[in-house]
Order: sequence, then structure tokens, then C-alpha cells
Amino acid sequence: MRAVVQDRYGAAPEGLLRCAETARPQIGPGEVLVRVCAASVDRGTWHMMAGLPYPVRAAGFGLRRPKNANPGRALAGVVAAVGADVTGLEPGDEVLGVGAATFAEYACARADKLAKKPANLSFAQAATLGVSGLTALQAVRNHARVTAGQKVLVLGASGGVGAFAVQLAKADGAEVTGVCSTTKVGLVRSLGADRVVDYTREDALDGGTQYDVIIDTGGNRRLADLRRALTATGRLVIVGGETGGRWLGGTDRQLRAQLLSGFVGQRLGSFLTSENATDLGALAHLCASGDLTAAVDRTYPLAETAAAIRHMLDGHVRGKVVITV
Ligand SMILES: NC(=O)c1ccc[n+]([C@@H]2O[C@H](COP(=O)([O-])OP(=O)(O)OC[C@H]3O[C@@H](n4cnc5c(N)ncnc54)[C@H](OP(=O)(O)O)[C@@H]3O)[C@@H](O)[C@H]2O)c1
Repeated sequence: MRAVVQDRYGAAPEGLLRCAETARPQIGPGEVLVRVCAASVDRGTWHMMAGLPYPVRAAGFGLRRPKNANPGRALAGVVAAVGADVTGLEPGDEVLGVGAATFAEYACARADKLAKKPANLSFAQAATLGVSGLTALQAVRNHARVTAGQKVLVLGASGGVGAFAVQLAKADGAEVTGVCSTTKVGLVRSLGADRVVDYTREDALDGGTQYDVIIDTGGNRRLADLRRALTATGRLVIVGGETGGRWLGGTDRQLRAQLLSGFVGQRLGSFLTSENATDLGALAHLCASGDLTAAVDRTYPLAETAAAIRHMLDGHVRGKVVITV
């Protein structure tokens, strides 16, 4: 099969990722072989490609060199084969979810990290749900626990996670303010945000509005600034933010938030996305009913995976960039 191959860690995709002929992955019990139709790119793709921050390597992605052939994870495609013990999926089913080394014609995925693809979603759209959609769903519903009428601020509303978070908070009846840069204001408005703040011109944390919930996916603002814009019992959910730090990569801010949370009236915290079929199914259902849509900015063919990652690193993506296979 054709697959993207990465032999070493590196911060720039150029010269690092190449297309090659490789063997199809072997599946074990509980696993599914997926003929990949699309695989999306997200900030986690870069972290795995670069092996940064270093704890990523210790988390099982390979200490000295990448364990997986390539850093693709979110995917959509067609089931080619199922391993022993897999129930509910069979060859020919169209699926979406999370697998390993998904920038390839075939990828292996655990059956409990897949859900059936709704017919109204293209494979490219479906491939965006696996990492970014899941993260947004869990941020809005499980961690921020958004309820109708709340004022919700999404920092990074034009990004992979943020674009879903805006829509999910709206679907739950919140009044949503989205923060992004100038050229992406139209996108965030089109996703249903009640108000859009262009962070190059205005500060959403200036104290003019107090929010019940802040979902932070970008900008790396100080905890004190974030807390000032929260109500006394508000919830701050830090999804992430790129700092370039090689050891902590911004996770120190998340840890400090979690520690402080026990001592103040506000709930401050972070989480790691849980990759599970139930939440993927919930996202698929929301897309099927038209309550959620995947904002696909651009698609790239497999051979141009490095260019797709560069497009994201340069900050050009509106929503998601997807590799089609
Ligand atoms: N906790 C977890 O398990 C988990 C899961 C997934 C992702 N993450 C992390 O979450 C973060 C977001 O991921 P993503 O894939 O959504 O990234 P992304 O697509 O690159 O989105 C980043 C967003 O941040 C915005 N942004 C940049 N500078 C900003 C500023 N100064 N103020 C406000 N917003 C700003 C960008 O807006 P413009 O493009 O308009 O500049 C963009 O909307 C990453 O750090 C990622 O590693 C964590």
C-alpha cells in the first residue's frame, strides 16, 4: 500500500515525511483494518511528528524514534477486515474515528475507537471528528457542562477544536462568543457564534463581560487574565495552547489551573481526550441531524501530507485540513 513514512522525529514536515510502498498493517483481536478515505491533521499530528513536548515520547509514541510509521490518527474510511472479538462492524461498513498511522491507504484501529459514518457526511468531513470533534464534545459537555442560557467564551474558535466547540455550545443553548484572528471572523460567525472577537484588535478578557464558561484552545493567556473574565463560580476548561516549550509545552499552566481549582470558587481544569466509540457515535448523530457540521478548509492528497501540515503550522487553517486517500 501507499503510506506516509517518518523515520525520525523532526519539527518541520519538509524532508521528514515521504510517501512509500509499505506492507498493510496486521490486525489483532479487537482491531479493525480500515481502507482509509480521509485522515485529518491537527496540532497533535505535529506533536507526534516532532516528538514534542518530550512527554509525548514517554506516553508511548516512541522514545528515540516514532513507533508508528506516520503521525496520522483521525480517520474515516471503509472497513476492510475485522479481527477476532469485534462485534457490530463488518467489511464494507463506512466508519470514522481514531486509528494509528492513518496517513496511508490502510490503517489499523481499535473497534472501540470507531463509529459508523453518517451518510450525509463526506469522508473528509467525517475524518475531522476523531480527534478535534471528540475533544470539543468532551470540553463542552463533560468538563464545562454547558447549559442553556450560559455565557460561553471559546478562545481559538476558528481552530480544529474551537470550531466544533462553538457549535456544540450553541446546540446546548448557550450564548457564545468566539475569539479568532481577523481573516477567520466570517467563519466563526457562520458557525453560529453570537459574537466574534478579533484578538488582533480587541481583548476578550478585558473584564467587559463575565463568562460562565471559558473554553481555551489557543492564545496561552495567563490564568489570572482568564479568571478575571470568569464569573465567581464559572468553569475554565483549558484544552491546550501552543508554547513551543520542549519539556512542558504549556501543560504547566494546565497543572497550575488544576491545583488552584481546589482553593477557589471557580472550577479550573484541563483534560486528555478520551477516544471512545460512544462519544464518536454522539458526534455522528449530531452531524446526521444537522446540529453539527465539520468545517473543512482544504483537502490535500496523500503525497502532499507535508504541505497540509505546513498549512496548519503557518496558521492558515479555518477549521480543519484533511488528507484524502
Ligand atoms: N487536551 C487534549 O487532549 C487536547 C486534544 C486536542 C488538542 N489539544 C490542544 O488544543 C490546542 C488547540 O488544538 P487545535 O487542533 O484546535 O489547534 P488549531 O486548529 O491550530 O487552533 C488553534 C486556535 O487558536 C487560535 N489562536 C491563536 N492565537 C490566539 C490568541 N492569541 N488568542 C486567541 N486565540 C488564538 C487560532 O486562531 P487563528 O487561527 O484565527 O489565529 C485557532 O483558532 C492545541 O494546543 C492542541 O495541542 C489538546
